[in-house]
Amino acid sequence: MTDMRTPDLTAAVELARLAPSVHNTQPWRFRVTNGALELYADRDRQLQVLDPEGRQLVMSCGTALFHARLALRLQGFDADVTAGDEIYGDFLARLQPRAGAPATPEERSLGAAATNRHTQREPFTDKQVADDTLKAISLAVEGEGAWVRLLSGPNEQLPVIVLLSHADELEDRDEAYREEVSEWTKRPESARDGIPAGVIPRGVRSRMSNLPVRDFALEGTSPEGIADQGVVERPLVTVIGTGGDALDDWLTAGQALAHLLLRAVVDGVQASPLGQVVDLPATRERLGRELGTIGFPQMVLRMGYAEPGQVTPRRELDEVLA
Ligand SMILES: Cc1cc2nc3c(=O)[nH]c(=O)nc-3n(C[C@H](O)[C@H](O)[C@H](O)COP(=O)(O)O)c2cc1C
Repeated sequence: MTDMRTPDLTAAVELARLAPSVHNTQPWRFRVTNGALELYADRDRQLQVLDPEGRQLVMSCGTALFHARLALRLQGFDADVTAGDEIYGDFLARLQPRAGAPATPEERSLGAAATNRHTQREPFTDKQVADDTLKAISLAVEGEGAWVRLLSGPNEQLPVIVLLSHADELEDRDEAYREEVSEWTKRPESARDGIPAGVIPRGVRSRMSNLPVRDFALEGTSPEGIADQGVVERPLVTVIGTGGDALDDWLTAGQALAHLLLRAVVDGVQASPLGQVVDLPATRERLGRELGTIGFPQMVLRMGYAEPGQVTPRRELDEVLA
């Protein structure tokens, strides 16, 4: 029997536009053609200094792709996804919906998380991420076709700590990088993109943590910040990677990242990417070697318990759907 229902592709874009993206650039455009949803890169929104290859742009579009697929699952549709084949092209993927099983309780929880997940860059508590959550986030990432490494203790985290600090310092000294950060942290409100001042933590390089979050405030080390620190966090470090390093791998990594972030939120676990270490080709490559992984690290995150982060803006539906 054929299923005569029609998927609501506009609802899929509604959830997709809430996805996380590097510097909240929201570098995606959607088009509906012949009952399918097409995803395009908006290269005008590419970070030319931080991301000259467009890898993190494509990963960001991959997070939106996961949200779109999830929205279709909530309507009882599966989607056949065909990735584009031009690594620097605009066409990224086509989602062809087909009738599937009703949404599971797990998918409904992820759907609820997609509407209220926010990056949390403030310190976490000293509680370590629970074993059940470690299993759930591994399944989430691997289910998307990516690999994951979960690094719990300081010894295991050492290569990340060293390479992250190095990358963070190199970027801090790069004037073009700093200008680009400024551009995306000082956006007019009407743009509904970028990272607003209200969500940017201060004094991040003075924290009692081995894992510096990106210094969006561009303020460097402020020694007076150290005295105020209370609990020392013990975050989980998560590395997401893929076997290859082509367009479809970047899309896979983005979908794995989105699935991981939502799965974490379902368990009350917050996260923030530590992108510095994978921004620079040298530290990214070195990280892969140090971890002894096969393939390519695509993103590194810190995860732990805290209040949810704060809301950031998103562009309206008609700005992203042609
Ligand atoms: C590919 C990618 C890379 C990111 N890199 C960083 C990062 O290095 N540091 C950071 O604090 N946040 C990073 N983020 C988080 C974004 O800044 C965040 O998703 C965006 O500002 C929207 O905010 P929200 O996640 O709270 O919705 C990254 C997100 C993505 C998808």
